Order: sequence, then structure tokens, then C-alpha cells
Amino acid sequence: MMPMRRRLAIALGAALPALSALATPAMAFPERALTLVVPFAAGGPTDKLARELAASIGRALGGTVVVENVGGAGGTLGVARVARARPDGHTLLLYHIGMATSPSLYPKLPYDTLADFAYLGMVNEVPMVLVGRRTLPATDFTALARWLRDRKRRAVLADAGPGAASQLCGLLLQQSLGLRLTTVSYKGTAPAMADLLAGHVDILCDQTTNTAEPIAAGTVRAFGVTTPQPLSAPALAGLPTLHAQGLTGFDVSIWHGLYAPRGTPPEVVRALNAALRSALRDPAFVDRMQALGAVVVDDDRLDPEGHRRFVAAEIERWGRALRAAAR
Ligand code: MLT
Repeated sequence: MMPMRRRLAIALGAALPALSALATPAMAFPERALTLVVPFAAGGPTDKLARELAASIGRALGGTVVVENVGGAGGTLGVARVARARPDGHTLLLYHIGMATSPSLYPKLPYDTLADFAYLGMVNEVPMVLVGRRTLPATDFTALARWLRDRKRRAVLADAGPGAASQLCGLLLQQSLGLRLTTVSYKGTAPAMADLLAGHVDILCDQTTNTAEPIAAGTVRAFGVTTPQPLSAPALAGLPTLHAQGLTGFDVSIWHGLYAPRGTPPEVVRALNAALRSALRDPAFVDRMQALGAVVVDDDRLDPEGHRRFVAAEIERWGRALRAAAR
């Protein structure tokens, strides 16, 4: 059955009583295609998630959602693009833990993370895997750690820039090993993974949604998952944790959330939140996430104010961790 197009009544306000008596005070939402900004390169984990969500959200709203990739500066360029967009619900942002880490990493962010956005709800949680090029001499984490200690600055860690999940994970890895490696930053982990597959860089810490398939295909070497517990998705089951291999307490799992610019009308926020809820309850979406090692959030994490409070707490938590890592 075709979904009902949501029509939102917009009051014209007390200043226009005569006009409101004559006109039909209703505006369609959506009025045109929505743009979902992905602040990383196409083909990477955020982009893959966005394309699945865009189709489902579009179906729920009875409209079209187009993905726009605005990569660079760890995702913050794309975030800034949405902060400046017209607050009418037609420009949305899908971003991850970088929403909480970038305030500590960029002294002059061109937006206020908590004040400049309408929070629409959380999406999922995604563990990460430390992977390496297939031609590395090390086949397990102990041998890799030894190799990295020998190579030091000659070993190359790929990431997606300050604020990216891969950078956060790579930073904590270097801190845990007591090492500084050479890092090469890309506009997303899709190009970073392409260079890893080509053997141009040595290691990458990336979300399971981007690593499960190359691990299953045997085109990268997997050295350990970043959560304290092993993962159950078939492509990832059996991989040891970094925690169990000597990096005691290593625990990085990232999350994604959906945002619109500050000032988006409450009716539109409600419509978008309802569309997100419906997208996340689509069994095909839930199955696909599970197969890639990700977990779709429960209903209680879809409350917009709860989402904002969670991000505020994450800004504090990661601020402390990043300050400690920089010491
Ligand atoms: C991406 O979509 O490319 C990633 O989320 C980048 C990252 O945060 O590591």
C-alpha cells in the first residue's frame, strides 16, 4: 500500500488574520526531495548506512531522499553544511560519534554541536575491527604489535581525519601500544580501504559495516575486534578481541544519529522522527545491520531529547579520553 503523504498544518500566525481566513493554512512535507548529507566519501560505512536509511525514510514519508557526500575534515565540513541549511526538514545529516569527539579535536568548529541542530534520534551502534593489508608479515595481533614497534613511523595507519571513528580508534590503539605511527587521512574509509587493499597503507581500524565483507572475502587481514566481547555476526564470529590479546580495556563502539538544522518546525521534527522509527523497524534493515555486526537502537533511544542528552554526555566522556590520549 502506498504510504499516506504527510500534510502538516502550518498556522499563519496572529499577524496575518485576514489572510489566514482566506487561505488554506497547510503545507505539504516533504515538498520536494530531501537531501541526506553524509560527511564522508561514497562507498564507506556511513554512506552504506545512509543509502539504506534514505530508501526507508523516503518510503515512510512518501517522498525521495537523495544522499549527498560532503567529505573532509573528519566529517565536520558536511556537518557545517547542514548547520547552515534552511531549517525546513529537507536537509538532514547522518553522522556518528564524531558529533561528540570533534568539539574536543577542533578548537574552532564552525557550528555548535548541541545548539545548532534539531536532534531526530539515534540509529545504530557499530563495533570496529583492526584490519591490515594482506601482505603484512604479521598474521596475528601479537606479531603485528611487534612489527609496529619495529617499524614505528615507517608503519602507516590510514584514517578519515580528526573526528572520524577510524581516527579515534587509531589514536586509542597507538596510545595503548605506546607508539606513534605515520597516519594518512582520507575523506572517508572507502578510499582508505581501497588503499589498504592495494597495499599502499598498512593498517586501518574501521567499522564492521565496512570490514565484514573484505574479511569474509580474505582480502584484508583481521587482527581483532574493538569491543570487549567477541561478535556474533557470521562474517566476524571467531575474531578475537583486542582486549583479550593484551590491550586490556580496549573498548570502541561507535553510534550514528540523525539531525536537521536548528529551527526545524516541531511538526517536521515529529514527522522525521516517525519516519526514522519506521525505517529502523524494517526487518530487512535490522537483518542487514545484524549481518554486518551492527545493532539497531531500541525505541527508547529514538527520543530526540534523549538523543541530545546522550550526545552531551558523550562530548564529556570523549573529551576526557582524548585529553588523556594527547598527554
Ligand atoms: C566513513 O563513512 O567513511 C567513516 O565513517 C569514516 C570514519 O569515521 O572512520
